Amino acid sequence: MRDQIFTEANDLVDFTFDKSVANVFDDMVRRSVPGYQSMIEMVGLMVKIYGQDNTNYYDLGASTGAISLALSLNNNHDNNRIIAVDNSIEMVKKCKNNLAGKVPNLKIVCGDINDISFENSSVIVLNLTLQFIPVKQRQALINKIYQGLNPGGVLIVSEKIHFDDEQKQAEVTKLYLDFKRANGYSELEIAAKRQAIENVLITDNQHTHFDRFKIAGFSQSLCHFQCLNFASFLVLK
Ligand SMILES: C[S@@+](CC[C@H](N)C(=O)[O-])C[C@H]1O[C@@H](n2cnc3c(N)ncnc32)[C@H](O)[C@@H]1O
Repeated sequence: MRDQIFTEANDLVDFTFDKSVANVFDDMVRRSVPGYQSMIEMVGLMVKIYGQDNTNYYDLGASTGAISLALSLNNNHDNNRIIAVDNSIEMVKKCKNNLAGKVPNLKIVCGDINDISFENSSVIVLNLTLQFIPVKQRQALINKIYQGLNPGGVLIVSEKIHFDDEQKQAEVTKLYLDFKRANGYSELEIAAKRQAIENVLITDNQHTHFDRFKIAGFSQSLCHFQCLNFASFLVLK
């Protein structure tokens, strides 16, 4: 279903992952996130390399289940369980519908990723989710993920990022707005979405991400993919 949520001027409310968003999410994310398909493909590539037999894979903020599906379709290890977590009941319903019969050994949990514990895991994915976690809680979440990963396990993170350099930020914003126009969003839709999401999606710069991974104890982290103001990080325990 096509995303037309912000086609009309509505009373300004903060963006939430409610039923109206869940219904159009697949269209919205593809038209709003440059490189989204590549982010997913990279997760598929990485599960082959870093997945371990007899371990759990976590998809945190799973939405409609695209990452869980990529983890499953590309998995070449034995006896893995995929645990998809989202705190939006509407997203969980969509995820269950989308993945029914497609992903063996799948557990879909409706819950807050800050409240669950991670066990015996080799791959944990935060695809466009950390940016919605309150900034003050982010370090604790990354620390907990580190604790829940087995040695040799990886965290894969994709995020919208910002640049401290004003000129870089201005250039990338110009390009990003044009990306959205090229994908059929009107000026009104772009402006309304921006207002609705600005208190909800809080970006970090790359430096903050790398520092956070290091503080948690990860041995290595790198930006393996970037498209405009969206970046993906591979973080190794
Ligand atoms: C942009 S979407 C993630 C997209 C998805 N990972 C993908 O690749 O298609 C962010 C998701 O995170 C979920 N979310 C936000 N905060 C959360 C939390 N504290 N616990 C669990 N899920 C959360 C939202 O409900 C939403 O479905």
